[in-house]
Amino acid sequence: MVTQQFVAPPARAALFLVLTVNEGSEEVVRDVLADLSSITRSVSFRIPDDELNCVLGIGAEFWDRMFALPRPKGLHPFVPLEGPRHSAPGTPGDLLLHVRAHHMDVCFELSRQVMNRLRGHAVVIDETHGFKYFDERDLLGFVDGTENPEGAAAPAAVLIDDEDPDYAGGSYVIVQKYTHDLGAWGALPIEEQERVIGRSKLEDVEMPDAVKPVNSHVHLNTIIDADGVQRQILRDNMPFGELGTEEFGTYFIGYAADPGVIEQMLRNMFLGSPPGNTDRILDFSTARTGTLFFTPTVDFLDDVPGPGPAAAPAEVAPVDADAPTTDLGIGGLRTAAAH
Ligand code: HEM
Repeated sequence: MVTQQFVAPPARAALFLVLTVNEGSEEVVRDVLADLSSITRSVSFRIPDDELNCVLGIGAEFWDRMFALPRPKGLHPFVPLEGPRHSAPGTPGDLLLHVRAHHMDVCFELSRQVMNRLRGHAVVIDETHGFKYFDERDLLGFVDGTENPEGAAAPAAVLIDDEDPDYAGGSYVIVQKYTHDLGAWGALPIEEQERVIGRSKLEDVEMPDAVKPVNSHVHLNTIIDADGVQRQILRDNMPFGELGTEEFGTYFIGYAADPGVIEQMLRNMFLGSPPGNTDRILDFSTARTGTLFFTPTVDFLDDVPGPGPAAAPAEVAPVDADAPTTDLGIGGLRTAAAH
């Protein structure tokens, strides 16, 4: 079994594309999914040192349009959160492309080739070009990604195993685009910024528990289960920004074998743990998007299953001209405003 490359060294450049697929374009997408490995190879083979890597995710409602197969157990639409002070919206997304490399030109070329195939069939809901800032820092100036699981712990955190054997080797990914109020953030003394994150800014050292505030980002994202084991996710956040519009932010992307772990973190951040004790990073960061995807194995994509009953009625049963017609409701579950 070949898994998509979730675990990868931090990239210098990333391109995130969240798309919705037009009704009736399911078969075009099926062809693109089946060709994704070869499209990636045709770009990466020419510049092997760039370590081009593309992960593809499929949203819950689109899964139902594409496949007759049951949904992977953890695949459902992103659960929006409405907290006392902050909210995490759920936004449309049928497909995610998470493209990483050492340089943006390579990410751009692969994404362009995919989009050439999808033109007229998909709508870009969000496109974010992320860059790596100094020392792996985000635009808040803190090193981001330090406590990611390493070695064998990384695939263990990310890959579905026996809990859902039909989809073993796949994973789940949640993306959220955050914008930062860098003016308000910059007005905070550095000691106070460190108390927001829970780590020192220059040396990136975690504060001892005795002094780390309970509303710090690190405290609220440290999830210990009933057996005393820390539940980990794999993050690959990227800064993005535009000077003209003064839109500065962090594109959050987290992979996990169990999306419930990321969802618990989000509840801690937005609703608070205990309730009302929300993450102080949100006083300076606003979630603009939120979508959950299943990321299948490479084998699944290379040999992508055939259409579900809703997409290919003629193959399911012979047409009986006298039978009453049924509205098969292709894409009928869709509520996205983008359509
Ligand atoms: C505004 C967006 C975000 C920014 C700027 C941000 C930044 C950071 C930084 C600077 C750290 C400390 C260094 C590290 O270990 O990486 C961190 C840790 C962490 N963040 Fe975030 N983060 C953001 C959103 C999120 C979200 C939405 C989640 C989960 C749903 C999350 C989960 C975590 C986890 C699990 C850790 C490691 C905690 C530990 O074990 O020490 N982050 N983040």
